[in-house]
Amino acid sequence: MVLILMGPPGCGKGTQSKMLEEHYGLPQLATGDMLREAVKNGTEVGRRAKEYMDRGALGPDDLIIEVMRERMGRKDCADGFILDGFPRTPAQAEALGGLLKELGKNITAVVNLDVADEEVVRRLAGRRACLSCGATYHIAFSPPKAEGRCDKCGAKLVQRSDDNEGTIRERLSVYRAQTAPLISLYGKQGALRNVEGTGSIKGIFEKICSLIDKEMRQ
Ligand code: AP5
Repeated sequence: MVLILMGPPGCGKGTQSKMLEEHYGLPQLATGDMLREAVKNGTEVGRRAKEYMDRGALGPDDLIIEVMRERMGRKDCADGFILDGFPRTPAQAEALGGLLKELGKNITAVVNLDVADEEVVRRLAGRRACLSCGATYHIAFSPPKAEGRCDKCGAKLVQRSDDNEGTIRERLSVYRAQTAPLISLYGKQGALRNVEGTGSIKGIFEKICSLIDKEMRQ
């Protein structure tokens, strides 16, 4: 199974894809998480990506495509994967098509989570993340049991440096200009499934699972 989660920043791609990873036993390949890890480890990829991430712009296509080519070729991807944050440009979508062909896989579904801009700003401004295990919380909508500490591993929760209102608005405008055109591209290919991204996290998860299960039965 190859599932793509799409939608604006803060629509819930990370939250839902982590739940789907556990439910379907397939790895979540989140480009944002991979780039943040590279920045933390001071690698060449991290060094190149950081300046783009800090200002809410997209990293260079060639860099992202190379990172994903390497990741998709690993053993744990043999039965498929869940893409969170890739592809994000027409060039990345084209490259993904080629990579899947090489791997002998097809896209099962592209789930587009639809969320309004003001909700995105509310969600991202209140998001807290665990740098140790990657779990995500929201100070009001899904708070941790103990303030500032991860429920899963107990590590300290932090606010991402790009989760300030100015950078969030820039990320939204980058999304509209460079990523939103992929919605019609995948619509034309018949792979697109729109899901309302506002509502309970569990309710949205159930909707996504039911449409994936339907695709898998066909
Ligand atoms: P990335 O990390 O992918 O950021 P993003 O797309 O902006 O998405 P987010 O992680 O901010 O949001 P999300 O949709 O995962 O929402 P979440 O589930 O956390 O990318 C960061 C940067 O890396 C980019 O700006 C770019 O520079 C670079 N990059 C990454 N991929 C790239 C690529 N392919 N090409 C080039 N550059 C790339 O939820 C958000 C909050 O809302 C959380 O607090 C959560 O608890 C809460 N929440 C979730 N669901 C709900 C709900 N239903 N109701 C209420 N609250 C909810």
